[in-house]
Amino acid sequence: MKLSAPIRTLTAAALLTTGLLAAPMASAAPTPERPGAAALAAPDIPVADVKAHLSELQSIADANGGNRAHGEPGYKASIDYIKAKLDAAGFTTSVKEFTTGGSTGYNLVADWPGGDEGQVLMAGAHLDSVDSGPGINDNGSGSAAVLETALAVSREQLKPAKHLRFAWWGAEELGLVGSQNYVDSLPEDERSKISGYLNFDMIGSPNPGYFVYDDDPAIEKVFKDYFAGLNVQTEIETEGDGRSDHASFLDAGIPVGGLFTGAGNSKSSAQAEKWGGTAGEAFDRCYHSSCDTTKNIDETALDRNSDAIAHAIWELSS
Ligand code: TRP
Ligand code: CA
Ligand code: ZN
Repeated sequence: MKLSAPIRTLTAAALLTTGLLAAPMASAAPTPERPGAAALAAPDIPVADVKAHLSELQSIADANGGNRAHGEPGYKASIDYIKAKLDAAGFTTSVKEFTTGGSTGYNLVADWPGGDEGQVLMAGAHLDSVDSGPGINDNGSGSAAVLETALAVSREQLKPAKHLRFAWWGAEELGLVGSQNYVDSLPEDERSKISGYLNFDMIGSPNPGYFVYDDDPAIEKVFKDYFAGLNVQTEIETEGDGRSDHASFLDAGIPVGGLFTGAGNSKSSAQAEKWGGTAGEAFDRCYHSSCDTTKNIDETALDRNSDAIAHAIWELSS
């Protein structure tokens, strides 16, 4: 009994160096129970499943006056949709209320049972839209990709060394209100257990760039290496520092990272050369507009970023 785990680990390491890991692993024994074992490769996140969540969020907006904004019925319906998926997959969920602008807001937090509770890896996305549209790229995209990554954790029955926690924030569009409320409400000992927070806000822009937050070198490297492996060049995210929920964590001294495909800024000709798309046009021409619908998504960007999220979660929690 005692011998099986070390032998399996050794074999996996040997196969990795010879590049033969994928085929033999398929017939190998199930995931080692030993926490801290060499990281297993993250699964491919099916982009069709991420898009299916976006269609549901679009339907929720359509049925609720065209948006999913804080204080509007489409926001709470979005929370209910995500929560039901997580509950069915075995997460421990909690909806945390706060009040801002005279209305009740909601954060959804989902814990994956297990791992070292003294080392918590978090990933999150804001779930609210602006009043003017359904908010499918901003930020159905991050919300759906984080959801599908959490569901992949459940499908694989991942046994990470660290404890995993996923979050969907309310009232980001009113000034990062939900994420700030969450960080402020954590007792200091809980806050100090968070080893990292990964943020995903706008990851399917129709004229995409591939931007990586450069706030923490170790987290940044995980994302940059992943895109290098796809032969996709990246740039540091600079379109407005502190303009998303990672700022709430960064201000509290928690290491942060994340991905972004661009908002209202326009793509330069150098960027169009490296990434394709249209120079002189906004990364997201429907940013904060009624046309931020399911049509306002670049499927390739959504797919690459969703897979990068899973890769980072697997790697950073092992
Ligand atoms: N958070 C902004 C919004 O929701 C979008 C945005 C602008 C952004 N600049 C950013 C997100 C940089 C992440 C990083 O409107
Ligand atoms: Ca994929
Ligand atoms: Zn926005």
